Amino acid sequence: MNTRRTMLVANWKMNKTVVEAVGWLNTFYPQAAERAAQQELVEVAVCAPFTVLHPLYVALRRLNSKVKLGAQDVFWQERGAFTGEISAEMLQEFRTKYVICGHSERRVLLQESSEMVSRKCGAAVKAGITPILCVGESISVRRGGLLLQWLEAQLYESLAFWDNQETIVVAYEPVWAIGTGQSATAADAEQACGYIRQVLRERAGEMADHISILYGGGVTPENIGELLDCPNVDGALVGGASLDPDAFGKIVLAGCKEQPK
Ligand code: 13P
Repeated sequence: MNTRRTMLVANWKMNKTVVEAVGWLNTFYPQAAERAAQQELVEVAVCAPFTVLHPLYVALRRLNSKVKLGAQDVFWQERGAFTGEISAEMLQEFRTKYVICGHSERRVLLQESSEMVSRKCGAAVKAGITPILCVGESISVRRGGLLLQWLEAQLYESLAFWDNQETIVVAYEPVWAIGTGQSATAADAEQACGYIRQVLRERAGEMADHISILYGGGVTPENIGELLDCPNVDGALVGGASLDPDAFGKIVLAGCKEQPK
């Protein structure tokens, strides 16, 4: 049997000051995180802005919490004259377990290429941080019938760094579903996530069955159940709904009901 954990990952994007982040944790923690912590096959992580990683690290340690920290970006160089960038080693100081690489907001707004994304993922794994590699199509790609070709190309280019053994997480995030309140249907999510696993299997064989593939884009407490019921959807990367500790708590509790895949 595979032992893919159900992963519920908050992506706060450019939201929350220190006071807001710690306040969020104080509300979220008692209701959901403790319950999730009792289940070995559920992983909860918060990908927070750089400025709140340290206060969250301190607060999570104080709570002896199993909630993991994640960052939203990393640079591929280890150090040097790269104004404004952050290295994997700097993230590691706060036990950052995950880092989002290649989110579509960065690919689209900041012209991050898949080659850059691959280098970022490579820097993360070298430092022992698991990349959450984001891939996904625009509405024009989908309408043009090019979904599968697009996903395959993005995966191959973004995974150029990968030696097929290191732990990675992949998130399928259709651009048209992000922040629009228009989630993919469970069938759409399963089709894309199943195809991603097929591409990973061609590349890495059985290892692909151990890789967590998440869905992201318009996830809410209302639709999380049907998304997690999909055989190839192992969890969710949650934007807007994760900002509200009650809503994210409900999403985590839904994940606690899932059977391991
Ligand atoms: P929303 O959940 O706000 O649609 O954002 C999804 C996302 O981009 C997660 O990385």
